[in-house]
Amino acid sequence: MQLIRANIAHFPHATTQFSEDITIIRDGGVVIDEGKIIAVDSFTDVLARYPKANVIDRQGQWLLPGFIDSHLHYPQTQSIASYGDQLLSWLENYTFPTEKQFADEPHAQQIAQVFLRQLLKNGTTTGFVFCSVHQQSCEALFSAASELNMAIVAGKVCMDRNCPQELEDCPTTAQVHSAALIDKWHNHGRNKYAITPRFAPTSSEAQLASLGELASQYPDVFVQTHLSENLDEIAWVKRLFPTAIGYLDVYDKYNMVRPRAVFGHGIHLNEDEWQRLHEAGSTIAFCPTSNLFLGSGLFDIASAKKHDVHVALATDVGAGTSFSMLKTYADAYKVSQLRHTPISPFEGFYLMTQGAAVAHQMESDIGNLNPGSSADFVVLDHQFDELTSLRIQPNAEFDDVFFALSILGDDRAIRETWVNGRRCYEKKESSHAMV
Ligand code: GUN
Ligand code: ZN
Repeated sequence: MQLIRANIAHFPHATTQFSEDITIIRDGGVVIDEGKIIAVDSFTDVLARYPKANVIDRQGQWLLPGFIDSHLHYPQTQSIASYGDQLLSWLENYTFPTEKQFADEPHAQQIAQVFLRQLLKNGTTTGFVFCSVHQQSCEALFSAASELNMAIVAGKVCMDRNCPQELEDCPTTAQVHSAALIDKWHNHGRNKYAITPRFAPTSSEAQLASLGELASQYPDVFVQTHLSENLDEIAWVKRLFPTAIGYLDVYDKYNMVRPRAVFGHGIHLNEDEWQRLHEAGSTIAFCPTSNLFLGSGLFDIASAKKHDVHVALATDVGAGTSFSMLKTYADAYKVSQLRHTPISPFEGFYLMTQGAAVAHQMESDIGNLNPGSSADFVVLDHQFDELTSLRIQPNAEFDDVFFALSILGDDRAIRETWVNGRRCYEKKESSHAMV
């Protein structure tokens, strides 16, 4: 049993919309045992209740729930930061060639390791991950995540048209291979499966039908895909699916608009689509660094709130430009400023912790520091260099610390990352003393 002494911030309640009911405990303590949180309170109170716990002293540092990245692509780890192009030519020029390499299992295993190290280094303890089309790419990721006891949600991408032939599956193999992966990995340890049609243009109606059938057979499995990211993409979907009333309707026709369905982007949605997402209890993954990088557009968080649609923050690496959820919030803030609806630091923090967990129906395990949840958390380093030491005073309020670290920081702001009660990442000591 361990007791980590630190300043604590989390959202304990399972609210579907952001509200400021955050719990902040200065000089608090989190007690963990066998991978779970068993108590959280002031340090003196938890010490009195658990006097024999092994105390880990992080006084003055901030301890937060591990971050949840609700949409990213692990095969694209190696093609992040590729110049030029908007979505469709970017996919052709960079993404598809990179993903072909995942037919080779040792390559997939190697990149899965790099990918998980990047998550941990950035304080991310759960990711919603697109693998490549190859079944073995998904095997490689789940195997690597299992060794760390990480709660990873992932799926094999399915696509049977409008992509290089080497990356095509078909309606039958998409269903059969996804089903095999579900049977093997869904709820195996902390892993969960997401049925993953890449996006409407790369799936035939027959493939969407077979994946919809699978989704109906497994109501608690996730669905993840892309939706209304780019105007050329939307026009293409109209041509490919002339009878659909809109982009979302393509997925809806095949039972994939439902709770635990996570749609990347959703930048250019109409009123009916917002309404339908609300009714269905689905989630939009807001990926600001990607949306800016590919010139896709500015996500409209005010419409999401107006229609009471779940939103979760996400990096969308490799179109996203950083694995850091702090930097992701910084860009979400800038996008929201351009739309005159600024996302507050508390809300940004909510969208990468409890808000995401509630959207994904996972709040009994992740997203908060409640007793019973898994011990997935981060310890921040809020004075990691000369500038942050100057800007962030020891007694600063939590929202100011979080905001300044998001704007100024990245992985340097993460001191430690714990997964399932074990410290899986510790930053090497850096000296920022002036000489
Ligand atoms: N739409 C279809 N595939 C992708 C992808 O890999 N990245 C992004 N950003 N959008 C997509
Ligand atoms: Zn994506």
